[in-house]
Amino acid sequence: MSKAAAFVCTACAATSSKWAGRCESCGAWNTVEEAQPLSQGPGGKALGARRGTPIRLTDLAQAEAEPPRTLSGVVELDRVLGGGLVKASALLVGGDPGIGKSTLLLQAAARFARGGLKVLYISGEESAAQIQMRARRLGLTESPVHLAAATNLRDILTTLEAEAPDLAIIDSIQTMWLDTVEAAPGSVSQVRSAAHELTTFAKRKGISMVMVGHVTKEGQIAGPRVVEHMVDTVLYFEGERGHQFRILRAHKNRFGPADEIGVFEMTGRGLVEVKNPSALFLSERATPAPGSAVFAGIEGSRPLLCEFQALVAPSPTSQPRRSVLGWDGGRLAMILAVLESRCGVAFAGLDVYLNVAGGLRISDPAADLAVAAALLSAREDSALPAEAVIFGEISLSGAVRAVAQTENRLKEAQKLGFTQAILPQARKRGGDPGLELRQMADLPGFVADIFGP
Ligand code: TYD
Ligand code: MG
Repeated sequence: MSKAAAFVCTACAATSSKWAGRCESCGAWNTVEEAQPLSQGPGGKALGARRGTPIRLTDLAQAEAEPPRTLSGVVELDRVLGGGLVKASALLVGGDPGIGKSTLLLQAAARFARGGLKVLYISGEESAAQIQMRARRLGLTESPVHLAAATNLRDILTTLEAEAPDLAIIDSIQTMWLDTVEAAPGSVSQVRSAAHELTTFAKRKGISMVMVGHVTKEGQIAGPRVVEHMVDTVLYFEGERGHQFRILRAHKNRFGPADEIGVFEMTGRGLVEVKNPSALFLSERATPAPGSAVFAGIEGSRPLLCEFQALVAPSPTSQPRRSVLGWDGGRLAMILAVLESRCGVAFAGLDVYLNVAGGLRISDPAADLAVAAALLSAREDSALPAEAVIFGEISLSGAVRAVAQTENRLKEAQKLGFTQAILPQARKRGGDPGLELRQMADLPGFVADIFGP
C-alpha cells in the first residue's frame, strides 16, 4: 500500500511524499506544495459505517442512455460541450487571466437563463455591481441571471442549497476557500478541496457546475490541473493577446468528443460566434508571398483552413534560432531534419521562424506537408501557388502519409474558392472533388514537383 501523498505539483498535479524545490515529474521549479488529505475517517478507521449496494452492469441499460442536455443556442459553445450542457455535470473552464472567461460565461449564463434554466453566477473576483456593469456592456441587463459575490464555500453551498439553480457558475475556483482547510485561497489544498466539494454537491443535487480556473505559467497559484481529473469536462479558452480571435477547446469531455473547438471573436460588445472560421483565419492573407502556405486542417469535427507563415534568414550567431508559434517545436525540428536528410535541403546556419496566422494553435498531424511547403517556399524565396491548399503527414522516411477526412478538407477548400489541392497519394475513391489534385508520394517528389528539380 502506498502512503498517502502529502505534496502535489501545481503545474502537473503529480503527487509525492516529500517536498522538493523542483517537481520530479515535470521539472518545474517552485511548484510543489503541501496538500491536505481530502478526508479522514473518524478515529482513523478503515471501514465506513454505511454499506453501498453495487448494481449490475446490465441494470444500467434501463437507466437513461443519454444524459439530459440543454442547448444554449450558441452553436460554437454547444458543439464544444458535445451537444449542449449535461445536467448534473461538472465543468472546468481554464485560460489565461484576461482572455475572456468571465465574459464568455456571463454570455452563456444569459443564454441558458433565457432558455428557461435557473442560473446562478457566483463571482469571487468582482462585485455584483461590477458584473452588472459588464452585463450592461454586453447588452444582457434583461437576462434573468442571478448574481452573487462570495468566496466562502460554506456560504456558497448554503446559497446553492436554498436557491437550487439548474446551472451554477463559480468564477473563479482560485478565489474560493473552505474554513476547514488551513491554507490561503488559491493554494492547491484550497482549490482541490473547493472543487471536490462543489463537484460532489453538483452530482448530489443535479446542478450543472461550471468552475473557472486561471492558468498561470509560473504555477504560483494552483493551476486548474489539480482539478482536471475531478470534473467531467475540461474546456480551455485560448487566444493570443492582440488578436481578437478566441478558441474554446474541449480538452477532456466525458459527454462528447475531445479536441472539439468553438471559434469566437472578442468585440467591444463581448464575444461573437464565428460561423465561418476558415474565412476569418485566411482574411489577413495578402497576395501570395514566399513562406506562406494554406493548410486544409481539421479541428475537432470540422474543417478549418489556416495559413502557415515561415521566415528563413541567415543566422548572425553560430546557434541558429528555431522559433515557432501555434505549432509544436519538436515537430518543426523533425520536419527540418527530414528535409535535410531525405531531400538534401539544409537549414544549417539559417534562422527559422514559423507562425500560424491569427494566433491559432494547430494540433492536426496533417499540417506537416503545409509546414514543409512554407519552409521550402521561404528558403527558396518563391511563392506557392496562391490557389492551392496543402495537407499531409510526413514520416521520418520522407513519405507523405494519408490523413483522415480528406473529403471534408477538399470540400472546405472548394467552398473558400481554392482550385487546387496538394495532398497525399492515397485518396480513397471519392466523387469529383471539384479541385485539381496534386498527389504526392514523398517529400523529395513534392520538392521536385513544386519547386522544380
Ligand atoms: P474577462 O472576461 O474579464 O477575462 P477573464 O475572466 O478570462 O480574466 O475579459 C477581459 C478582457 O476582455 C478585457 O481585456 C476586456 C475585454 N472585453 C472586451 O474586449 N469586450 C467586452 O465586451 C468585454 C466584456 C471585455
Ligand atoms: Mg474573470
